[in-house]
Amino acid sequence: MKKILVINGPNLNLLGLREPSIYGNRDFKALLAFINETAASLGLQVECFQSNHEGAIVDCIQQAYGVFDGIVINPAAYTHTSVAILDALKAVSIPTVEVHLSDVSEREEFRHHSYVSLYASKTIIGKGFDGYREALEYFSANN
Ligand code: DQA
Repeated sequence: MKKILVINGPNLNLLGLREPSIYGNRDFKALLAFINETAASLGLQVECFQSNHEGAIVDCIQQAYGVFDGIVINPAAYTHTSVAILDALKAVSIPTVEVHLSDVSEREEFRHHSYVSLYASKTIIGKGFDGYREALEYFSANN
């Protein structure tokens, strides 16, 4: 069974409370339940990690080496700033899909650039929770 690591970055733990007109009303617990149910239905083993700290996310990616077959990551605000997260993904060389709940291409200019996109095999934007399903499907469809 393929092992997939799902990483969520800063402020995603405040889903539901946080700008509901952009991110919706469902909370982070609901997202985790959605990810776990979707992974089970696809026959994937999944582990979820969330942190508000860039270094903790880098540590998590480093520790994934030799353990996980794929990474699904929503780096949240670090998407647009973090060379360190990009470098960690390149270092471990684990196939990665990037997810954003909102359509970042339709938002402020500073959200249009993603460092992680320079490494990710696929980037899914603007599909809410379903973006995580699409990302997990990418790995179940033999990637
Ligand atoms: C986000 C988009 C980012 O620009 C923002 O900083 C986030 C969430 C998304 O899921 O749409 O925190 O990654």
